[in-house]
Amino acid sequence: MIKDYWQNYIDGRWVDGKAGRHPVENPATGLTIAHQALANETDVDAAVCAAKKLHLSSEWSGLRPVERGRKVQAMGQYLLDHIDEISEVLTLEQGKPLWESKLEIEGAARYFEYYGNQAETLEGRSIPLGNGYLDFTIHEPMGVSAQIIPWNYPIEMTARSLSAALATGNTCVVKTPELTPLTNAWFAKAAEAVDLPNGAVNILCGLGSVAGAALASHPGVDQIVFTGSVPTGVAIATAAAQNVVPCVLELGGKSAAIVHADADLDAFETDLRWGIYFNAGQVCSAMSRIIVHDSRKDELIDRAVAIANGLSTGPGIDRPEFGANMGSMVSVAQRDKARMMIEHAEAQGAKVLAGGHALNRPGAFLQPTVLTDITPDMSIARDEVFGPVLSVLSFRSDAEAIQIANSTDYGLVGGVFTSDTNRAMRAARDIKAGQVFVNEWYAGGVETPFGGYGKSGYGREKGREALWNYVQTKNIAIKLGEQP
Ligand code: NAI
Ligand code: MG
Repeated sequence: MIKDYWQNYIDGRWVDGKAGRHPVENPATGLTIAHQALANETDVDAAVCAAKKLHLSSEWSGLRPVERGRKVQAMGQYLLDHIDEISEVLTLEQGKPLWESKLEIEGAARYFEYYGNQAETLEGRSIPLGNGYLDFTIHEPMGVSAQIIPWNYPIEMTARSLSAALATGNTCVVKTPELTPLTNAWFAKAAEAVDLPNGAVNILCGLGSVAGAALASHPGVDQIVFTGSVPTGVAIATAAAQNVVPCVLELGGKSAAIVHADADLDAFETDLRWGIYFNAGQVCSAMSRIIVHDSRKDELIDRAVAIANGLSTGPGIDRPEFGANMGSMVSVAQRDKARMMIEHAEAQGAKVLAGGHALNRPGAFLQPTVLTDITPDMSIARDEVFGPVLSVLSFRSDAEAIQIANSTDYGLVGGVFTSDTNRAMRAARDIKAGQVFVNEWYAGGVETPFGGYGKSGYGREKGREALWNYVQTKNIAIKLGEQP
């Protein structure tokens, strides 16, 4: 049983929402599991003002970095200490299997470990200007970091931006997703547990069109981080431009794995299983397309169909252990959007070789799906489904494979599977994406920078690159007086 009503957290206090409250559904049953306070513009303003006040006091930004870093790390430990309760709520609000929820919370904690460690590594440089000057740079926190969070990985996405922003001395206002707001409460609890100053972490839910828009356009915000859809990203970047503040946009993709004739298809089965069916395919960097060499197409399709048909789909809460299983999608609306895209693909000539249908039970379930007979110009080959839907295309020459891989508006990640190192390196050079995986989809981690080309967005998260989102560089040039 989870508690019925969840408040927002502003300036170190748990508060109701001035826009009332709304029901949070379990997408595996369609039943309401709790109610979430909804913020309006006034609440957003209170949170930004609290964050600004703390920033200006320098109580947080002025700490010795090692001390800030220790607190950031302790927040991650707090998440791990509460992993059982958080993972249960995450599965109930989001739909993913319980074991995937645990992985997500471990991943979230890892961000706090990594960026806590980075806090004291951010150093400036000195710039030689000849005998008459001494010159050096310092990094200062941007100030108030606004973070607008999607529903697919609510805990991990907040952890990614919150940990790096705090480690660099910023204060934060997090707008949680209206579909999956509950688990973000643990960031507020963690802030309390490690005794962060009031205003360092503000966590509030509200509708995107109300609280999200108010936060993105608030003149007190100094920097914005957003993960979500392209249209919302455009709206947020437009609001940011009005206030002349930078933003980081992570907007999803239509990422392709190129599978060559010499690829190890036994090993690739694992990549395929994780690449498109993890989190029911609701992953920005999902392997939503496979582009396979014509000579191995039939074999690869047989394997993909066997994997899809071998997954058991059902309520995440009944799936505590790692296994061949999948949960529900986040909502019936997202499920039906995916289903419509499958139907549209069929109408354009695609074949559904596995899945394709909603499960005949309540909840937002979609069967793991494999589509073939797809040409690069079809919308299913170009548009993000954000569901457990794999599109298989084929190629004859290396150049054709790259050309198909690069034929969408997106460019988040890409992959190449081959035993020929030269061929892999050429593909890594030619694929237009922020990250290229060779022989393992999702290779890398918190340490490796992540972000998109094209409509996948701009800026980088993860790795040391992300630190630069949260700091200003100030140059200090000193004219030396003449020796008396
Ligand atoms: P969305 O981009 O509208 O929502 C993401 C976040 O933005 C939520 O917190 C929402 O409240 C907020 N938001 C919405 N409108 C806003 C506005 N005008 N100003 C400020 N914040 C606003 O995504 P949505 O509608 O939930 O999903 C639609 C599609 O977006 C999905 O089917 C998927 O293709 C894509 N998506 C991609 C994600 C990724 O990881 N890149 C995550 C979530 C969705
Ligand atoms: Mg939307």
